[in-house]
Amino acid sequence: MSRTVYVNGDYLPEEEAVVSVFDRGFLMADGVYEVTSVLGGKLIDFPGHSARLTRSLSELDMASPCSDEELLAIHRELVVRNGIEDGLIYMQVTRGNPGDRDFAFPDPKVTRPTLVLFTQSKPGLADSPAAKTGWKVISIEDIRWGRRDIKTTQLLYPSMGKMMAKKAGADDAWLIEDGMVTEGTSNNAYIVTGNRIVTRALSNDILHGITRAAVLRFAAEAQMQVEERSFTIEEAQAADEAFVTSASAFVMPVVEIDGTALGDGKPGPVATRLREIYLEESRKVAV
Ligand code: PDD
Repeated sequence: MSRTVYVNGDYLPEEEAVVSVFDRGFLMADGVYEVTSVLGGKLIDFPGHSARLTRSLSELDMASPCSDEELLAIHRELVVRNGIEDGLIYMQVTRGNPGDRDFAFPDPKVTRPTLVLFTQSKPGLADSPAAKTGWKVISIEDIRWGRRDIKTTQLLYPSMGKMMAKKAGADDAWLIEDGMVTEGTSNNAYIVTGNRIVTRALSNDILHGITRAAVLRFAAEAQMQVEERSFTIEEAQAADEAFVTSASAFVMPVVEIDGTALGDGKPGPVATRLREIYLEESRKVAV
């Protein structure tokens, strides 16, 4: 059955949902996005995603297409119209269609941003079999641009990284800059030794994950120690456990890094526990 997609104020069948070939999102990757998960028909961590969208827009001098309340209403409407129980909502804002190609930004008073949202139904998203076996990751060089804190639609290198991982028989790639892990292709990266969780500190080098913020808060509440600092692949390979977080994977255990199994090669107790806590607590405050 065809999905209902939102484009600039209209709810349309996906076949009719179109944007211009001159849209700067298409020509320049001049756009930002958010992915929010839906569990039990409710939005997980929506305030965080909406706040990060505002920040991404502001960092790029891009106009906001509508208020946070309107964005929430559109998200909810799409969940209802598409009957989403479990899944994802993709939201993208681009600098719009100035009617031609030009490196200079168009005047925001004349060219309005383009707002597109669509749903992805994923029944049983929180019960993913992968969470029971864990992911294998490889390491690759991080050659992305220097503002990874802005959630832009420039995702070619992360896609290439995902393909490199697949070709190597792995599930994802961890990106390495100056010998240190930055993050995964589309998730934040963590290692665990004993009761101590280590993850890279926030800066322009990584995306400020909304799941990361929640998980670190829950970890501290559960008396786990959290250290925000960079780590090497060698340190990760010697760790007891590792995991990644994102809106689509929640807390996903990592069991192998560059062919080296962590511990007994099975998801560790800390990652497993944090996944349970995250899912339980974030469902309670879902909207
Ligand atoms: N990706 N780092 C990168 C590079 C990401 O693309 C993402 C999210 C994250 C985790 O952020 P959050 O916890 O807010 O989802 C970290 C989304 C899920 C995506 O591109 O599909």
